[in-house]
Amino acid sequence: MALQVNGAGFSLLRWRRGGALRTRAVASESVATTREEVEKVKLGGSDLKVTKLGIGAWSWGDTTYWNDFQWDDRKLKAAKAAFDTSIDGGITFFDTAEVYGAGVMGAVNSETLLGRFIKERQQKEAVEVAVATKFAALPWRLGRGSVLSALKDSLSRLGVSSVELYQLHWPGIWGNKGYIDGLGDAVEQGLVKAVGVSNYSERRLRDAYNQLKKRGIPLASNQVNYSLIYRIPEENGVKATCDELGITLIAYSPIAQGALTGKYTPENPPTGHRGRIYTPEFLKKLQPLVTRIEEVGQNYRKTPTQVVLNWLIAQDNVVPIPGAKNAEQATQFAGALGWRLTEQEIEELRALASEINPVIGFPVEKL
Ligand SMILES: NC(=O)c1ccc[n+]([C@@H]2O[C@H](COP(=O)([O-])OP(=O)(O)OC[C@H]3O[C@@H](n4cnc5c(N)ncnc54)[C@H](OP(=O)(O)O)[C@@H]3O)[C@@H](O)[C@H]2O)c1
Repeated sequence: MALQVNGAGFSLLRWRRGGALRTRAVASESVATTREEVEKVKLGGSDLKVTKLGIGAWSWGDTTYWNDFQWDDRKLKAAKAAFDTSIDGGITFFDTAEVYGAGVMGAVNSETLLGRFIKERQQKEAVEVAVATKFAALPWRLGRGSVLSALKDSLSRLGVSSVELYQLHWPGIWGNKGYIDGLGDAVEQGLVKAVGVSNYSERRLRDAYNQLKKRGIPLASNQVNYSLIYRIPEENGVKATCDELGITLIAYSPIAQGALTGKYTPENPPTGHRGRIYTPEFLKKLQPLVTRIEEVGQNYRKTPTQVVLNWLIAQDNVVPIPGAKNAEQATQFAGALGWRLTEQEIEELRALASEINPVIGFPVEKL
């Protein structure tokens, strides 16, 4: 059904029966906008509900890995458009970290940018955003107190009094028990709604889960590298343990940093650090899979990006957080929701992907 009513500061557009996407009118005194309503899922055993897909904000303000080592006004406008387009498309879950865009000349902290985008949007209309950020387990940070003080610095950059999800970005060389205690303290002090970890192995995940459980606090999520061509979480027990303990797996680099989108080819590889991971040789091996992903997408009028994100969501208990640099990329992400690949297609793509060995960088899974 498509219904359109315009006038008197009120509008209503598009409605898809049976799918997750719906549109509702949002009217305020001066502004009237329509936003998609995207289905939400509970994050692990916590009370926090987030959209089935979130947006990664690592590239916003970053000059060490992304953006050809330069941040400028044009990129800032594109990142803001990515944020606004995500909200328009109903995606309200954003992932950042204290280290994104931090400590390097010319960079801008991603938390600061996200906080600014949220504030600017909320000045125009009421919109609920779920923010996830992360604690960097740096070797000189010891004890539970360091988690709370880093969190307070993050809240200050974001310009909020609490965040929805606080995660340990990676396990520390030492001090891990204290960090988990710090997460518990953050919940009890009302500074966060839910807590999670990232880059945690099965053993570390079980330990963290049990430690928090003693205080009656659920470990909501484990954020790990997971995509069609990086299925290590399926092989090292992390996905199965998440499913068993009721912990949501948040999938980072879900489109393999652009390699699964069809944009990069052996003749046109990515530049910068990514170029060393997704080499022309690797991209050549990837071609048959990307071609098949494109063909499958054509049946649904979907892009390869949307197909591979849909594949991840179909694994259940998985929330992908692709990184959007601009409005066009954010639009594509929203289109990964509201439909589903068939079981046959899911298995066919998995089988084809199994023929390609994943590129392993720093072995975070073994930390
Ligand atoms: N916990 C951790 O240790 C960890 C590690 C990595 C990432 N993360 C989180 O996960 C998020 C996503 O991961 P990621 O950024 O590494 O990788 P990703 O989401 O797989 O890839 C994002 C990149 O792909 C390209 N892209 C996006 N949409 C596209 C489209 N429709 N068509 C073609 N290219 C497109 C963009 O780069 P170009 O336009 O330049 O190609 C974009 O920056 C991060 O932002 C961060 O929040 C967490």
